[in-house]
Amino acid sequence: MLTIALSKGRIFKETLPLLAAAGINPAEDPETSRKLILPTNLDDVQLLIVRASDVPTYVQWGAADLGVAGKDVLMEHGGDGLYEPIDLKIAKCKLMVAGPVGFKGPAHGRLRVASKFVNSTRAHYAAKGQQVDVIKLYGSMELAPLVGLSDVIVDVVDTGNTLRANGLEPMEHIAEISSRLIVNRAAMKMKHARIKAFMALVEAAVA
Ligand code: ATP
Ligand code: PRP
Repeated sequence: MLTIALSKGRIFKETLPLLAAAGINPAEDPETSRKLILPTNLDDVQLLIVRASDVPTYVQWGAADLGVAGKDVLMEHGGDGLYEPIDLKIAKCKLMVAGPVGFKGPAHGRLRVASKFVNSTRAHYAAKGQQVDVIKLYGSMELAPLVGLSDVIVDVVDTGNTLRANGLEPMEHIAEISSRLIVNRAAMKMKHARIKAFMALVEAAVA
C-alpha cells in the first residue's frame, strides 16, 4: 500500500493533476466527503486528508509514505525523517514580514512579531541579530497589528490583496515558497521501486 498525505483546499486541488499524471484518481472529493482516508482508483494507493501543518508529521512518523507540503510548513517543521525530492511548483507564494503602511519600527522596546511560523520568524530575526518578541497565532495574522497585538507579522503573501485590505504592506522577503513532495526515509528504502516509479511520473508532469 502507498499512503499519501494531503491537505484539503489549495494543495489538494493543485496536486490532483499531478496525481492523475501518475495514474491516481481519488474515489471521492474531500470537500464533500467526511472521510479522512480516501480510496483511489488504484487498490494499492490511498490518500490521507490532514491539516496542512500536520502533513510533515504524518510522513515523518511513517503513518504516510508520501505527502505534499508547503515549504513554509517544512521550514517550520524541520526535516527530521523526511526526504524532500521534488519541488512541485504549486501553491506558490512568499514568506514575508509585513506591517502597517509606513511603519518604521516601534517607538520604544522590542519589535513584536505575530506569526504561526514562530521558528522561521525567530530564525529570520536571529540571522539579523535583532531581538524581538514572537507571538504565536494559528491564523488571521493580518489582524494582529490592527488591534495592537503586534507591530508586524510574518505570513505568506501571494497577490498582496489580504495585506492591502487590512492596511498592511510587505516589508521584508524571507523565502520563496512552493509545495514539495516529501517522502518518509524508511518508506523510500522499503518501497523503493513503487515510490521511484511514482516520483518519475510526478516529475515528468511538473516539467
Ligand atoms: P492549516 O490548515 O494547517 O492552518 P492553511 O490553512 O495555511 O493550513 P492552506 O491555506 O491550504 O493551509 O495552504 C497550504 C499551503 O499553500 C501553505 O502552506 C502555503 O505553502 C501555500 N499557500 C498559502 N496561502 C497561499 C496563497 N494565498 N497563495 C498561494 N499559496 C498559498
Ligand atoms: C493565505 C495567507 C494570507 C493570504 C495571502 O490565507 O495566510 O492571508 O493567503 O494571499 P494574498 O496575498 O493573495 O492575499 P488563506 O489560506 O486563507 O488564503 P485564501 O483565502 O487565499 O485561500
